[in-house]
Amino acid sequence: MSASAVLTRTAPLYQRVASVIPAIEWPVFADDIDAILALKRERNAVILAHNYMTPEIFHCVADIVGDSLALAREAMKVDADVIVLAGVHFMAETAKMLNPAKTVLIPDLEAGCSLAASITAADVRLMRARYPGVPVVTYVNSSAAVKAESDICCTSANAQKIVESLGSDTVIMLPDEYLAQNVAAKTHVKIFAWAGHCEVHERFTAAEVRALRADHPGVTILAHPECPPSVIAEADYTGSTADMSNYVGREKPARVVLLTECSMADNVAVHHPDVDFVRPCNLCPHMKRITLPKIRRTLETLRHEVTIDPALAIRARQAVERMLAV
Ligand code: 13P
Ligand code: SF4
Repeated sequence: MSASAVLTRTAPLYQRVASVIPAIEWPVFADDIDAILALKRERNAVILAHNYMTPEIFHCVADIVGDSLALAREAMKVDADVIVLAGVHFMAETAKMLNPAKTVLIPDLEAGCSLAASITAADVRLMRARYPGVPVVTYVNSSAAVKAESDICCTSANAQKIVESLGSDTVIMLPDEYLAQNVAAKTHVKIFAWAGHCEVHERFTAAEVRALRADHPGVTILAHPECPPSVIAEADYTGSTADMSNYVGREKPARVVLLTECSMADNVAVHHPDVDFVRPCNLCPHMKRITLPKIRRTLETLRHEVTIDPALAIRARQAVERMLAV
């Protein structure tokens, strides 16, 4: 197919992202986007993309976008044969355990997560031994093996609700220490945490937030709950990636900062040309492993398939399903 035919066909897609992708860069993306759209039809595949995907993925090839909670819910409903998870490995595992009959592919097997890497199933068993009888709430940013040792999962969108749903005075909350501390600040439930951190959000500081306010008078500051409590205390609002996006749509702040991964602001800004986005941000090296050429290759080769040991998958799925039922 000639390059000019591809550019003509993809021109309407470029209009979606023209505010965040310079026109001179578009030809670099157009060929892969065109091929991916054709391959999706050929393979009967859908692409689920997390809010941290770059705009050319998020706005131009994804079928379903959202935070971890939305992607889990939507993965369950997918009817197509193939799910390509444009996100990190734990998200692909979650999709596989919730919809095991589907072929779940991840474009780069190395797309991990510092939180998921911070804890093993044996660590969870040790925590149980240390706090006998205390229920274990596990953040979805964890491996299937860790989920399988847990009573229930949570995401950044529902963590407090899940903790309080258990009717227990104490819970073990794994593996994100800051998420646990941020929930503990809002609930009467006593929380025993694990010392895992998100390598992206732990880098934000309270001093940085104060400097942003001084430099940008009137700015509204939204923070992800994986940020340290000292940062959350300085922010105007805390929520999951979807919550932050919804906040901008609902409140339409004149000027806003999203204390989270860099692509979030680009993706939200596309829908809100009137909002001024101040963009201090940190890149997630794992999310950034997912690129258009790798998505294309995944659909061409049907690699890398994400599988879970069936016995483990049943137990991990129970923890996720308990969360979805709350
Ligand atoms: P959300 O569930 O808020 O999208 O967060 C996922 C994540 O990895 C944040 O770093
Ligand atoms: Fe994990 Fe943090 Fe990257 Fe999210 S942003 S995938 S929590 S390392």
